[in-house]
Amino acid sequence: MSLDTMPLANGTTLSDDTLRAAEKKAPVVSELQAMLERAYGRQFTILDGRSGEVIFAAPKQPHRDWTRYTEICRTVSAGNRPEFIDDEDPFLTLALPWQDNSGNEFMAAAVFLSRKPEANEDLGAPARMLGMEVEEAAAWAASQTPCQPESLLRLGEMVLDGVKLRHRIRALLAENDKLALNLTATYEEISLLYRLTQGLKISRSDEELGALALEWMQEVIPAAGLALLLAPLPTAKTAPQTGRTQPLLLSRGECLLDIPQFSALLKHLGVEATKHPLVVNRTTTSQDDWPWPQIRQMIVAVLSDGESSYGWLAAINHVSDAEFGTVEANLLSSVAAILGIHGGNIALYRQQAEMLAGVVRALSSAIDAKDPYTCGHSERVAHVAVRLAKELGCDSKTLTTLYLAGLLHDIGKIGIDDGILRKSGRLSDEEYEHVKRHTQIGHRILHDLAKMEEVLPVVLHHHESWDGRGYPDRLAGEHIPLGARIVAVADAYDAMHSDRPYRKGMADERIEEIFRQGAGKQWDPAVVEAFFRCREELHRICQDRPQDTPFLSFA
Ligand SMILES: [Fe+2]
Repeated sequence: MSLDTMPLANGTTLSDDTLRAAEKKAPVVSELQAMLERAYGRQFTILDGRSGEVIFAAPKQPHRDWTRYTEICRTVSAGNRPEFIDDEDPFLTLALPWQDNSGNEFMAAAVFLSRKPEANEDLGAPARMLGMEVEEAAAWAASQTPCQPESLLRLGEMVLDGVKLRHRIRALLAENDKLALNLTATYEEISLLYRLTQGLKISRSDEELGALALEWMQEVIPAAGLALLLAPLPTAKTAPQTGRTQPLLLSRGECLLDIPQFSALLKHLGVEATKHPLVVNRTTTSQDDWPWPQIRQMIVAVLSDGESSYGWLAAINHVSDAEFGTVEANLLSSVAAILGIHGGNIALYRQQAEMLAGVVRALSSAIDAKDPYTCGHSERVAHVAVRLAKELGCDSKTLTTLYLAGLLHDIGKIGIDDGILRKSGRLSDEEYEHVKRHTQIGHRILHDLAKMEEVLPVVLHHHESWDGRGYPDRLAGEHIPLGARIVAVADAYDAMHSDRPYRKGMADERIEEIFRQGAGKQWDPAVVEAFFRCREELHRICQDRPQDTPFLSFA
């Protein structure tokens, strides 16, 4: 039966307010009604426990004026057990209290017959109680099967327990669903943090990891936009162009801010001074000065390793226009902490790499100082070797190795007699054998130094010859490490190109002729080919002696 057409047993109709209230309570009422009907084989009239208004009028119940029962209704519905609210032998009115999960109170009531009336028994009193005519009451009584009052009460208790149990089960199922949802969200959050920690490789730049973090966070944080503002990096003295000199803004979704606006917002919020995530939830009635009306909700967290800040991470506007809470703030804060630690590691690595480069340069200066006529030779060999390696398509790690190897290739000369090194005339066989030892001495010097594994083969084999006639191991062809083959060409080029006290640097044509003749004999023909492809640039490198190390890879 539709509630808006429901007639009352007494012939009146429900008010609009009552109808609306009944529609709201209909699911609860219908469930209670269904259980009562199964238990008692009849429908009960349902009344609002507080107002006493009829929510559902059972059609087969005797007519009654319920307006007189408001107080009784309140008393019964506030209780917790079935009771008889009318007892005019042989008619009994059973009433059951009920409260739904929202705290709404109800009373369900139905009239029962406690015994069969005698023939010609006067039913005037019970008929008055129900507001019926005597004949009508007699006809209704004749249609009923008598019930034991005790059984009616006991059955009522069972119905109430049953309904309560069903509601409890429903509440538990809802709680279970909520827990499952929370568990899924928690799993996604842990998965995000796990993926981020797996991505904490030093070789990955903060920009690359930040972009990944934003992409993954989109799946977990209910924000319309995500933004990551990365601060400029400290400038590396040896390679200033490798550092980020300006802030960088990465974003996903609707960021709504450019770099100056983001910076101004951080200042406005005072985020720069706090290490905790800041949550902003604006309401439509907020009246204070907020220069970014398009931003209603926001979380901002600083990227910090505990000492320095490397940027800021922000979630902008909740997708449902709801408030951001602790869960989102904690997750954003965790991601910011991971990015901050990564930023700290990169800074530390840069410092170490710079220190290493500084030490290596100091060592190479020491080598050159032993032979003042070749001043700057190691630096030039390093640059030429890197340019040749680029020409041969080597990766950035190999370029770094070759730079260090170029600087250190002759470090073993530290162990060679100064008199022989500085000798301007031809060396005797014995002296030459002594000089040849510098490759092995250099290998021994660097052998125990961390980070030098890749450099060692170049230092040891940079005097091997493609035809197997070099030293110290007479390696041939591709048995000679590629780095050593490259440094061999770079070393020879600078030696021939540079001025010496006893001779001028060779003319380019002469150098090229020597390389053509030596390709496939002394030098790797592929490296010589690379030399010819970029010889003008190599010439400039040796002339200008660049001071920076543009290829030094820090990441
Ligand atoms: Fe050498």
